[in-house]
Amino acid sequence: METRTIAPPFMLRFMANVILFTLGHQVLSIDIQRGKHYVAAVYEHHAILNPNPVAIIDRQTALQLMKRNLDIYEEQVINAAKQGAQIIIFPEDGIQGFNFTRASIYPYLDFIPNLDSLTWNPCKEFYLFNDTEVLHQLSCMALKNQIFLVVNLGTKEPCMQSDPHCPPDGRYQFNTNVVLNDNGILIARYRKQNLYFEYAFNTPPEIDYTVFDTPFAGRFGIFTCFDILFYEPTVTLIKQYNITQVAYPTAWMNQLPLLSAVEFQQAFATAFKINLLAANIHHPDLGMTGSGIYTPSKSFTYYDMESINGKLIVVEIPVITSYHETNMENNAISHNSQKSSLNFYIEKQICHKDQEIDCKIEEKPSQEFYGIMMYDNFTLMPILNAEGNIEVCSNTLCCNLIYKQLEKTNELYVLGVFDDLHTVHGTYYVQACVLVKCGGLNYSTCGQEITEASGLIDFQLQGNFSTTFIFPLLLRSGVTLDFPDYLGWEKKSYVMYKMGGSSGLITAGLYGRWYERDTNNF
Ligand SMILES: *[C@@H]1O[C@H](CO)[C@@H](O)[C@H](O)[C@H]1NC(C)=O
Ligand SMILES: *[C@@H]1O[C@H](CO)[C@@H](O)[C@H](O)[C@H]1NC(C)=O
Ligand SMILES: *[C@@H]1O[C@H](CO)[C@@H](O)[C@H](O)[C@H]1NC(C)=O
Ligand SMILES: *[C@@H]1O[C@H](CO)[C@@H](O)[C@H](O)[C@H]1NC(C)=O
Ligand SMILES: *[C@@H]1O[C@H](CO)[C@@H](O)[C@H](O)[C@H]1NC(C)=O
Ligand SMILES: *[C@@H]1O[C@H](CO)[C@@H](O)[C@H](O)[C@H]1NC(C)=O
Repeated sequence: METRTIAPPFMLRFMANVILFTLGHQVLSIDIQRGKHYVAAVYEHHAILNPNPVAIIDRQTALQLMKRNLDIYEEQVINAAKQGAQIIIFPEDGIQGFNFTRASIYPYLDFIPNLDSLTWNPCKEFYLFNDTEVLHQLSCMALKNQIFLVVNLGTKEPCMQSDPHCPPDGRYQFNTNVVLNDNGILIARYRKQNLYFEYAFNTPPEIDYTVFDTPFAGRFGIFTCFDILFYEPTVTLIKQYNITQVAYPTAWMNQLPLLSAVEFQQAFATAFKINLLAANIHHPDLGMTGSGIYTPSKSFTYYDMESINGKLIVVEIPVITSYHETNMENNAISHNSQKSSLNFYIEKQICHKDQEIDCKIEEKPSQEFYGIMMYDNFTLMPILNAEGNIEVCSNTLCCNLIYKQLEKTNELYVLGVFDDLHTVHGTYYVQACVLVKCGGLNYSTCGQEITEASGLIDFQLQGNFSTTFIFPLLLRSGVTLDFPDYLGWEKKSYVMYKMGGSSGLITAGLYGRWYERDTNNF
């Protein structure tokens, strides 16, 4: 029985900015226009980890270890279902943990049969296959609580030596997401494409483009963690499979100032104009926290470096149905006042070089310096005045910042540009324009990870990017999220601007991914 009450539209609108906390669970409502909506849940799980993941143990011991996590999953499924959730997402590696070797993870792996010609309910038909105990318990949870379950686990698939990709030990080991429907039927599986130094696992022989259908919200796509930064399968899934909602298990180690989990998850949902249901592992000691339910214009997140506990987020969100709105080339987004806010700047005759209006870029280019941010060598320029217009370039990308500091604080901010192949912990081409707070007042502290700031800055940030895939970052003190007032193309530049703000600025950024330049993908 559903116990949710549907408030009249004006009520929902009123509640848009209100976060209600009940018994430690977040119950949230957002502005809902006409049309369908549904209740989604994500659980940020504090996984109970095997203290010695490289030791070789037997299947029974592995199952006992995993059961401790699965029992927590079960409690959360019950909690979520009680709050009306129709789908719940759990994080990557949440059942078995991480840091295994290929051999040591083996006893943790469930077998997954080929689902193409099979409708299988692991709860009711557990006897059909061996080594499916984890799927069995998950399927029963889904069935008992009448909820769709998206879960990440390790899986194995035997292969023939005639298969040219088959590993020498005769089996594939995959980092897999499974989807169980509200009857407990295993309806989809996705095998992670972009492994993050996970030597225990294989990349699938062919890219999985996995979608699944729900009666309450239509079609979802699915991918895992590091995949979010790459073209395959992520962009293909969204653009060619017309996906507007994504279930996203992750085990993301935060990296400020540009790649904190909640920061990038929101940027992704905003850029593609999709709903993203993101569940991260909760291990603050490893820098892992940050989950959320994101619509293109609102985010409901959890980020907590203090508590060691997991967190359930349950939110009612609208179904996004129309694909034509999900078009990055044409994605002007206005959250606030219309473009007229720009008049403030135009009146002051400040603008971008590329534009025809008469411009006054500050004439002190000698202030440029270099700084390493997230292992990349950024070209930086300090913000020295109460207001101004500065530009920095690197390779073919020029970033322009028009700014006005609302009050003078004793903090150093810089405008930074990077246009090159990122090569540490993964290889991918980044074009980025960023406004960040430095760690201190010394220029050598720019690019450091900081989480607190008090500087309030009105700004317009833009760059003449060579890619249309640009993820807007806007992070404030305490790692809280904010939305730009405006995002979109103006002639050949992609523009973000924001006036005001509730707390100090940590990062404002346009993080572009120029996928064609990734040496691995193209
Ligand atoms: C796993 O390995 C990473 C990198 O080698 C290390 O930083 C981390 O502490 C390890 N985590 C655990 C839980 O052992
Ligand atoms: C499961 O494993 C047992 C013991 O190895 C074997 O006898 C049985 O045939 C297997 N069942 C299936 C369905 O493969
Ligand atoms: C996606 O949408 C386009 C345009 O509406 C349509 O032509 C295409 O067939 C759709 N693709 C899929 C996989 O549904
Ligand atoms: C950053 O790039 C500049 C310009 O190419 C170079 O002079 C500088 O040495 C680089 N810094 C580092 C740490 O590589
Ligand atoms: C960006 O602007 C700079 C300076 O005007 C120019 O040199 C560069 O070619 C431009 N890049 C692109 C991709 O148009
Ligand atoms: C800034 O940092 C550099 C490198 O750590 C150091 O050599 C320099 O003395 C510092 N400057 C000031 C003014 O503290």
